[in-house]
Amino acid sequence: MQTALDPIEIVRGKGASLFSAENKRYLDGISSWWVNLHGHGHPQLIAAIQRQAETLEHTLLADFTHTPAIELAETLLNLLPGNMKWIFYSDNGSTAVETALKIALQYWHNENPNTPRTRIVSFKGSYFGETFGAMSAAGKNCYNTPFWKHMFPIDQIDPPYFGREENAYRELKAILQNNQTACMIFEPSILGAGGMRPYSSEGLDKLIGLCKEHQVLTIADEVMTGFGRTGPLFASDRLRNTPDLICVAKGLTGGTLPLAATACTEALFERFVSSNPAHSLMHGHSYTGNPIACSAALASLDLLTSSLCQEQRNRIANRHVAFRDQFKTHPALKRIESLGTILILESYIQKPNLSKDLLKQGILLRPLGNVLYVMPPYCITDDELSEIYEALISTLELL
Ligand SMILES: Cc1ncc(COP(=O)(O)O)c(C=O)c1O
Repeated sequence: MQTALDPIEIVRGKGASLFSAENKRYLDGISSWWVNLHGHGHPQLIAAIQRQAETLEHTLLADFTHTPAIELAETLLNLLPGNMKWIFYSDNGSTAVETALKIALQYWHNENPNTPRTRIVSFKGSYFGETFGAMSAAGKNCYNTPFWKHMFPIDQIDPPYFGREENAYRELKAILQNNQTACMIFEPSILGAGGMRPYSSEGLDKLIGLCKEHQVLTIADEVMTGFGRTGPLFASDRLRNTPDLICVAKGLTGGTLPLAATACTEALFERFVSSNPAHSLMHGHSYTGNPIACSAALASLDLLTSSLCQEQRNRIANRHVAFRDQFKTHPALKRIESLGTILILESYIQKPNLSKDLLKQGILLRPLGNVLYVMPPYCITDDELSEIYEALISTLELL
């Protein structure tokens, strides 16, 4: 707080823009931390929220259910890759991951309370959220230093970066020999908060295949990649070997309300169905399956699966590719890549106060160290995208 900027008071949003109390416009180039899909103040989302709020704002979801929760589960199960059969609702990406980790660990515990399968494997540089399980699963890094003593031990391998897939495969194979691994968790196609690093989906596919050979469960954390960000609806759509659990949050409600879902297969679910109460998943949150959030999610998925949204995502992806190709030999850049609607620029040097300078120009981007990226709402217009690109070009000139 001592060095932070004075926060900008935002009073309204429309499309890809946010407006301050002083009526300055900010182009939301990162979809308000990757949550907003269709733009701010979308009339269909507002209407769905209003309708549901007038009917039923909330009820507990233990021994109770309601239409929005049922319909959303059915819709998600149809859209998600693989063979997902069950949905567990929570509130955010971190809790979606906690739920998945607990399901995977308890899956083995239910089979044998003394199971040796208690360890988790992840990629170096992963990010799964802020809670202790999510932090531990991602491994020790500079953001969680004060908690290292409290984090549980895990095993880590290099991600299957392009050209280094064999290395990741060898590392995983060595770890799985000990038969102590309960599950592997990963962000499919790209490490997000860990530096926007795309990697080989074919390589990941082989790692999942290896996990399957060793009966190790796999968890795809689609919290960032879900809902079309990387091209297909889910990054796991690129995989032939599908995961046992999938976590979604962020864009689930189109960026309007907090809601998350952890999906799993029938085989996992069955391990919890028992006359022994200790075999049930004793996990839940007060706002689990909130009806207003579920209704917003249904409206957002309706928009997401429309042909208009597909066109919007293709248009953004094509413009990113053109920008990438134009600047691929820029001397200030160590790396310029695009993946679906995400554009990534890694510079050799980190420019101090970059986000502040961009804000002055009315552009909201938040670099991760020396990695600058764009992940806009799908409704962004061509002119608005050009404004962001121009700000990127003037930033490159200063590097
Ligand atoms: C891949 C991934 N998983 C989990 C999370 C945590 O989500 P939340 O901030 O909603 O808790 C994030 C957040 O950035 C994420 O990128």
